[in-house]
Amino acid sequence: MERTLNDAMDYARTFLHTGKVATYIPELAKGDSEQLGACLITTDGEVYRVGDWQQEFTIQSISKTITLIMALQVAGYEKVFSKVGVEPTGDAFNSLVRLETKTAHPLNPMINAGAIATASCCMDVKDPFGEFLELTRRLCRRDTIHLNEAVFQSEKKAGMRNRSMAYLMEDDNILEYDAEDVVDLYFRMCSLSVNAEDLANYALVLAHNGVDPRSGEHLLDDWIVRIVKTLMVTCGMYDASGEFAMKVGIPAKSGVGGGIMGTVERKMGLAVFNPALDPKGNSVGAYRVMEYLSHYLGLHYFSGSNSMI
Ligand code: DON
Repeated sequence: MERTLNDAMDYARTFLHTGKVATYIPELAKGDSEQLGACLITTDGEVYRVGDWQQEFTIQSISKTITLIMALQVAGYEKVFSKVGVEPTGDAFNSLVRLETKTAHPLNPMINAGAIATASCCMDVKDPFGEFLELTRRLCRRDTIHLNEAVFQSEKKAGMRNRSMAYLMEDDNILEYDAEDVVDLYFRMCSLSVNAEDLANYALVLAHNGVDPRSGEHLLDDWIVRIVKTLMVTCGMYDASGEFAMKVGIPAKSGVGGGIMGTVERKMGLAVFNPALDPKGNSVGAYRVMEYLSHYLGLHYFSGSNSMI
């Protein structure tokens, strides 16, 4: 395993020059596009760490999976899916175009507009961000996960597109709270500082339908995990979700901080970090590590053999 993981890293390194760090959130522009790290945790508790696995980065859109979990826990299935759909978009993650229809319902919870709508469903509790942080810490098994204040402030300052989406949705009564309060929560959710091991721990819990296989601890209801993994398959990689499903075949979620988290059913949790992004906002290095591992370890969800596409 260790050998395959290192080979995957070498393979991915040859592609890093094709990507660029995100700049639309100024604080993210400080990322180093050469950094590459990964963590893989198997069901029997073996942990493999390589490269810059300790490097902290902001969770960004990977938080959208946890926001959806919390929304379903707080507001329930009916309410959440009265606010947001479950269909892939084919548009960029920060696109506004579909909101300008008869109603401003976002197509799914994995794009910015959809995550803002699900964040609003998390606000029926006393301390929404506090509870979100606690949930993230439990799923990632680390009590010291915290907010990256500089990234949060930077997102807040540069978040005009997200604000525009929120105001459109407030106008259409999709948000039940003030648009500014909802985007504030959304920006905080995106700005948590994590490392590859944190996300691999979380991915392992998803791989076991809400139970941590190491401790037996039941962390999430299986119906919620099923919904989250389904949306990771269909929408987790934005408008590259179809291509990723075909070439890699691992339920995954990416973020513009450079992380991709992947969950391999009953086998492993996996997370890779590299801040060099492709034009669709997915990490070049993380994508390639997953592609390599899927091929050489036969991880594609339809893999009867290890054949490369
Ligand atoms: O709202 C934003 O644009 C960011 N906080 C999150 C976007 C993101 O991670 C999309 N990822 N590929």
